[in-house]
Amino acid sequence: MTRHPFPAGGTAWPELESHMRAVSEQDADWRGGRVPLFVFKNDAETYEIGRKAYFAFFSENALGRKRAFHGIGQMEEEVLGYGLDLFGAPEGAAGAFSSGGSESIFMAMKAARDAWRAAHAGRASSGAADTGARALNIVMPITAHPAFDKAADAMDLEIRRAPLTADRRGDVAAMAAMTDARTIAIIGSAPCFPHGVIDPIQALSDLAVERGLWLHVDACVGGWMAPFFARIGRGTPAFDFRFPGVRSLSADLHKFGFCPKPASTVFYRDAADLERATFRADAWPSGAFATPTLMGTRPGGAVAAAWAVLNHLGTSGYEEAARRLGAMTDAYVAGLRAIDGITLWATPDLTIINYGSESLDIYAVAKQLQARGWVPGLTRDPKGIHAMLSMLHEPARADYLADLARAMAQVRAEGAGESGLSAQY
Ligand SMILES: Cc1ncc(COP(=O)(O)O)c(C=O)c1O
Repeated sequence: MTRHPFPAGGTAWPELESHMRAVSEQDADWRGGRVPLFVFKNDAETYEIGRKAYFAFFSENALGRKRAFHGIGQMEEEVLGYGLDLFGAPEGAAGAFSSGGSESIFMAMKAARDAWRAAHAGRASSGAADTGARALNIVMPITAHPAFDKAADAMDLEIRRAPLTADRRGDVAAMAAMTDARTIAIIGSAPCFPHGVIDPIQALSDLAVERGLWLHVDACVGGWMAPFFARIGRGTPAFDFRFPGVRSLSADLHKFGFCPKPASTVFYRDAADLERATFRADAWPSGAFATPTLMGTRPGGAVAAAWAVLNHLGTSGYEEAARRLGAMTDAYVAGLRAIDGITLWATPDLTIINYGSESLDIYAVAKQLQARGWVPGLTRDPKGIHAMLSMLHEPARADYLADLARAMAQVRAEGAGESGLSAQY
């Protein structure tokens, strides 16, 4: 990292803006649908509602939602309430508004660890830090997000990754065999990021109930959209609190909820588990401090924007979005199937596509796409190209499929060579 001389100051907005634009000039063309992850779009109106609401509450701090910013507090309660309703949570459930999937997952894993500790109080020690004791563990399919590894790293937990079945969903029997008395949680994704399919949540719920395990459903990508895919009749599998073994669930507003970043939610079947996630301290001169999130200060704008977008879209808006996203994904899938040599690695439950080739090195194809200005998303096992589609990607569909067909033909004609590419998020 380079040391930059501290700015002298006094630079006016026009110059600041032109500099910021200039340094971003080489950014990938995400507005043109050439970036397959990181960014999401429903339509221009949803974007504008989120933007306006965000900046109307730009300075408010959601940390002060109970003592100063009552409006933010009320909006946050309502957003969480909408989630409890959407995800079929029972009476007594509760949730928290966080900055993203990683934070939601971290808090849920802290709650699960503390629940294990409470259940085993006096009977066993917990955590790897305890000399001689084996670490507590989390059992999850290989496809679960690295946010679980991050939480495990910070809390000295062990991660056990299970294989998949042929349809690339978590193998529940393999997961069952990996659990033991020190398992604090089992995980299912809805959907998983790499292949875009929803793990068998019903079977995981049965396992959780049978063995008294905590089941966390990571619906970070799809949570706020999948119920609408189901409602419009796309046969999207259920994944939420309607299954009795689901004890916590994470769902990001800033992905397919189409709300401005940073915005996620994490829900607990029982408010006692929200209390377990909550960090409390009272040792310093300023008195009691408590947050159900890792963050202290939180952007009030993100809460206000989520409230505004959810109320703007509502059931009809999200169903309409589901229709458009579904039709676009079907069109991408049909286009991919029409290209000689392409194999879809999974049938998308939502809008994530993952495909490769039995005859060509798909990374060499990805390299050709990159040369044509696309940022290729890659998977490693199996070797594949990956895209998380939102409405940003609809105008680019024809160009994408045409460039892909050309890239396939070129690799077939010229040979693969060394792509130099490797899968990375
Ligand atoms: C399935 C899944 N879980 C969790 C996350 C982490 O979310 P965030 O990047 O908001 O922390 C992601 C991000 O893509 C994800 O795909």
